Amino acid sequence: MLIAIDGPAASGKGTLARRLAAHYRLPHLDTGLLYRAVGAQCLARGLLEDAAASADIARALDTDMLDPDALRTAEIGEAASRVAARPDVRAALLDLQQRFAAQERGAVLDGRDIGTVICPSADAKLFVTATPEVRAERRFRELQGRGEITSFEAVLEDIRKRDARDSGRSAAPLTQAGDATTLDTTALGIEEAFAAALAVVEKRLSSR
Ligand code: DC
Repeated sequence: MLIAIDGPAASGKGTLARRLAAHYRLPHLDTGLLYRAVGAQCLARGLLEDAAASADIARALDTDMLDPDALRTAEIGEAASRVAARPDVRAALLDLQQRFAAQERGAVLDGRDIGTVICPSADAKLFVTATPEVRAERRFRELQGRGEITSFEAVLEDIRKRDARDSGRSAAPLTQAGDATTLDTTALGIEEAFAAALAVVEKRLSSR
């Protein structure tokens, strides 16, 4: 079974993807980490403006070296969003994601273009949303928990900027697949959101 989950930053898609993967005992790939790893290496080498170098870095990416804790900072999120707008970077990461999705038992992938580009024939597709304010609040708490010094206003501004860039780019922009089910998590806690996501997947499976 292949489950595709897309949505904007801090919508809750990562948590739902992890929970669904654990529930169905499927491997899970947080594809944002791939773009974050490329962004982090570009930052570290002072190459963020260099499109050709960022594509080379994406082609040479070692997925065994992804460290989620180190990659989830606000600065790396911004760098990831910038390199993710480049078609050559996306092309370099396509095969790796599709191979992960093609595992015999299936998989859960979450990102921005999973239901539209990476796995258009996924068995179940979810598009997870929440208002920018609620997403900023969640991200603000997460960053605070990690000891990053920031303000709610700065996080909200960052979320709005990232939404605009991720949705407005010409290469695989963040858009809902026609056959994806929307799950608005604005007013939902984690357990409620998970129950709703599970219901969507089960319904899709029963109608296959
Ligand atoms: O989900 P995230 O915040 O970790 O993603 C970081 C950035 O990577 C996001 O701003 C856009 C980009 N991204 C993408 O373009 N396509 C994906 N499938 C996943 C992430």
